[in-house]
Amino acid sequence: MSGIVVVGAQWGDEGKGKIVDVFAAKADMVVRYQGGANAGHTLVVNGKKTVLHLIPSGILHPERTCVIGPGVVVDVESLLQEIQMLKASGYLQNPKQLLLSESCSIILPYHKALDAAREKALSDQKIGTTGKGIGPAYEDRAARRAIVFGDLYDLENLRSKLELALHEKNSLLEKVYGAPTFKVKDLVQQLQQCAEELAPYRCKDVSALVHKQIKTGRRVLFEGAQGTLLDVLHGTYPYVTSSSTIAGSACTGTGIGPTSISKVLGIFKAYTTRVGSGPFPTELQNQVGEKLQKEGHEFGSTTGRPRRCGWLDLPALKYSIRLNGMTNLALMKLDVLTGHEKIGVCTGYKLNGELLTEFPCSSYELEKVEPVIEYLAGWKEDITQITALKDLPRATTNYIDFVGNQIGTPIDVISVGPGREQTLWVKPLFA
Ligand code: GDP
Ligand code: IMO
Ligand code: MG
Repeated sequence: MSGIVVVGAQWGDEGKGKIVDVFAAKADMVVRYQGGANAGHTLVVNGKKTVLHLIPSGILHPERTCVIGPGVVVDVESLLQEIQMLKASGYLQNPKQLLLSESCSIILPYHKALDAAREKALSDQKIGTTGKGIGPAYEDRAARRAIVFGDLYDLENLRSKLELALHEKNSLLEKVYGAPTFKVKDLVQQLQQCAEELAPYRCKDVSALVHKQIKTGRRVLFEGAQGTLLDVLHGTYPYVTSSSTIAGSACTGTGIGPTSISKVLGIFKAYTTRVGSGPFPTELQNQVGEKLQKEGHEFGSTTGRPRRCGWLDLPALKYSIRLNGMTNLALMKLDVLTGHEKIGVCTGYKLNGELLTEFPCSSYELEKVEPVIEYLAGWKEDITQITALKDLPRATTNYIDFVGNQIGTPIDVISVGPGREQTLWVKPLFA
């Protein structure tokens, strides 16, 4: 049993890509199981930055097989751009390194048009989506009318599915939203071109492939996208994404059983960020928040939007640990806290004068809570070049211990910079 799920513990952008890249050195396979090109996972190797949206973050290791599972919604054009970018940088030279499930739902231009039109119509209540068509694509999956990757290789079937889809989508776009419509002929032409280029990556049965790896004792990393608090059921609904982002989704999105998972590694930042709308109790709309944003380069990897910033929220983190059954944690971007005289950590909330220690499931309640902040002493030393835990400043160690004691789940990895090598190990994840 060697399946390890890597999952975001906050509102996304915790540094999942970096950690998957680091662990991929010791894994055999990396699998994406949900989300789509709304994700932006950044890897920094020898100072060179690579941002991935759909391709698993193990791809910079030429011997690792990277798999896009059936739970992912795939924008085929975006995927092809990513493949080209990687090839041009000297990666992905062997097409066998990447496999795309034929069962993945495809994101079509009308999904993106509907995403944009719906956001526009919501006006000041908009979700703040990435505009990548994620919500409309998952809607189609649930409504049993999705076009899947395998359909691209059966022209007649593809044409008839598109006719059916456009009958409804064009009507919605034109009559409800006053937006431009699409033609079957154009979409077929576009998709045929993509199908040809993606043919080397086709995989019929991802479930069987991954199952065999795990059964034979190989190490499989499941790479989550987004974060726990963006989960469609358990996140800050309706300000969430449209997939299940929690660790359980690695099973449903790949087609393996929960007994195949041995560990769940939760990734969290030393502070909190959020992109888009929705409640954020520890948000700092002041100079401290601006400092976190500036020092942490907190701008979206997918949309470039500034990320909202605030202190670490322990009730939210504990909620994530529970929902995912996290067994181990990675504490990211600790270096970004350098230079703050005092560092805030939210240990609870106040609601109508009462102290809450649990994260409220309802966004309506979460909007109204007041965070209870405890302050710890900060540090001034640059920690980005430190390679051993014992060399961290005392105040930094105190901060790590404080957080560790509060959450009760071991922090096994500490990250002090974006580079692969800027990773401190408390305990190796693979035995
Ligand atoms: P993901 O979506 O969870 O993979 O995270 P993103 O890539 O969207 O955002 C994380 C950002 O933080 C990226 O720009 C990373 O290069 C960067 N990063 C990751 N770990 C660290 C760290 O420990 N320190 C600093 N300063 N940056 C980091
Ligand atoms: P990674 O994998 C941060 C947010 C959007 C918006 C909400 C819904 O890089 O951590 P969507 O386009 O999914 O319908 O948008 O979810 N969101 C993310 N925020 N990181 C992500 O991915 C995100 N993917 C979606 O900003 O608030
Ligand atoms: Mg990201």
